[in-house]
Order: sequence, then C-alpha cells, then structure tokens
Amino acid sequence: MTSLSSSGLDRILTLELVRVTERAAVAAARLRGRGDEKAADQAAVDAMRAELNRLPIRGTVVIGEGERDEAPMLYIGEEVGAGDGPEVDIALDPLEGTTICAKNLPNSLAVIAIAEKGTLLNAPDVYMDKIAIGPNYPAGVVDIDASPADNLNALAKAKGVPINEISACILDRPRHARLIDQVRATGAAIRLIGDGDVAGIIHTTDPDETGIDIYMGAGGAPEGVLAAAALRCVGGQMQGRLLLDSEEKIARAARMGVSDPNRTYSIMDMAGGDVLFAATGVTDGSMLAGVRFARHHIETETIVMRSSSRTVREIQARHQDMDKFG
Ligand code: FBP
Repeated sequence: MTSLSSSGLDRILTLELVRVTERAAVAAARLRGRGDEKAADQAAVDAMRAELNRLPIRGTVVIGEGERDEAPMLYIGEEVGAGDGPEVDIALDPLEGTTICAKNLPNSLAVIAIAEKGTLLNAPDVYMDKIAIGPNYPAGVVDIDASPADNLNALAKAKGVPINEISACILDRPRHARLIDQVRATGAAIRLIGDGDVAGIIHTTDPDETGIDIYMGAGGAPEGVLAAAALRCVGGQMQGRLLLDSEEKIARAARMGVSDPNRTYSIMDMAGGDVLFAATGVTDGSMLAGVRFARHHIETETIVMRSSSRTVREIQARHQDMDKFG
C-alpha cells in the first residue's frame, strides 16, 4: 500500500483538513452559550460533513458520532469524501465538548484525524481508561497497570522535580473519586476538567505552557483515539483500555474487531499509520482561541499536525467571505 506520506497527498490534505474543522467550529460557535448541546452538535456535524465531502479522499468514518442506528450522519462506517483519491480512515468529533459549548466554557473543539486505511482503532462509543504524558520521557515511564502513586513518582523522577511539582489532569466525575484521592495523597496537584479530554491529553505535550504533566482516568474511547492521533504527531506516550463492563459492550466491540476485551492499546495500536490531525477552537481555551465573530469577518484558530514530518502548524484565519459559513 502506498503510504499517505510517500504519495505526497498528506501535505495537501493537511491544509484541506483545516477547512473541515474551521467550518465545523464556526457552525458550532454560532450556538455557543445557548444551552442546547444537540443543536450545536448537529450544526457542527452538518458543516463538517459538507466540507469533508469536498476532499479528494475515499474515507470511512471509524470513530464518529455513534453507530449507524443512533447517528444519522457521520456514523461509524459512513463513507465520506469526494470519492477519488486515497482510501483513508477518519476519526472525528465535530464538536468535542458539547456541554462546554452549550455553556460557553473553555476548550470545546472541532476535531478530526485522517490516517491510512486500517490504521485507526475502530472502537465503539464506550469508556476508555487512559494515561498519557508528553514527549521527552523514557519509554514506559508510566503504565496503565501501575498505581497512581507509582506513576506519579516515576514521572517526577524522570522530570527531575519533586512530586508536588507534578500536575495531573482528570475529568471531574464521581467515577474518579478514588483516583483523585490517590493522586492527592502523593502531593501532586490536579487540574479537574468538566469535559474535553482530547484537549486534556494534548495539554500534556507542553507542560511549561499548560501546567499539565499527565492525564489520567476514563473518558470516551473515540476521544482516546483522537488524542492518540494527536500524540503521534507531537510525541508523547499514551495507553488506553476499553472499559467493556457488560456482555452487550463486549459484543459491540467484537463486531468492530476487538477480540480481547481487556487489551491495553498503545498509541501505535490506536493510530499506527501516517496520520493527520486538526482541531479548531470553538470556545476560547488554553490550547486554541475560540471562533471570533467580528462585524465583517470571522476569525478562527486551528492546530494541524502531520505524523510523518511532525510538523505542527497553528493557523489563524480571517474569513471575509462570511456567506460561505451560512
Ligand atoms: P462530548 O463532546 O460527546 O460531550 O464529550 C465530552 C467529554 O467530556 C469527552 O471529552 C470525554 O471523553 C467524555 O465526554 C467523558 O464522558 P462522560 O461525560 O460521560 O464522563
């Protein structure tokens, strides 16, 4: 199979992808702060799909808005793209952080990853236990099976700081009460986030800027694969394990090719091929500014990355042609 990078197409697609997340972000941002998660998500889905169908790809959604019967559009298995060009896997979350957007709180994003066919983990929309750290640490410094104390001690040692200078990002959920107690008992700090663990994981890649060294805990599996795709492009370590706590979930996962329900996935298991990742801010956040509606133009901020070159571009766009955004 010709890789995306050797075909040279990934260079072109990198910039094309920016349009896809920009368009979804603007659509969702029009509904920021209206308290209507569903409407904002639908607007982002419609916009992302319209733009995706212009791309010169034969894409299959492997992580999307849900399984076919529950998601009218951008469902897992849906084919997108203009129908010519390379066959690719697509993971997307047109509005990551629907509640954040509805409340106009920080860090909701429009997110997409494109990779060579067959290289993104095809996971159902279940929870995934995750652990992630940024680049420049020895391989295996943290492990999903180790205790929080062991992981935080190992990370502090590798970073060369006392443990009380380590900060963990954890979703603020009752299911994490024990994890939170265990982390606090070590003296490490916690950034509790209300939603949005794709951004939470990406934050580990730049602790000087974000103040976050490690992500721990359970969030959505689709968000886990999207975050793994981002880490492939910038470096970092991540492990994930699907939380398949019922026969029904085990069966759903099996239908997507998951034969071992207890398997630990590495980044390469989740996003192993050449991958492109793009995210545009919907609401203001620590990673990206949100969409800004000015009187005569719209401004967006996007990060787009490519694993084969590890290039990270931050693109601030000023869109004069406001009609195109509807
Ligand atoms: P949505 O965009 O689907 O609302 O997801 C937001 C999110 O916070 C994700 O970032 C996270 O992975 C997941 O929800 C956690 O799920 P839950 O809210 O059920 O704990």
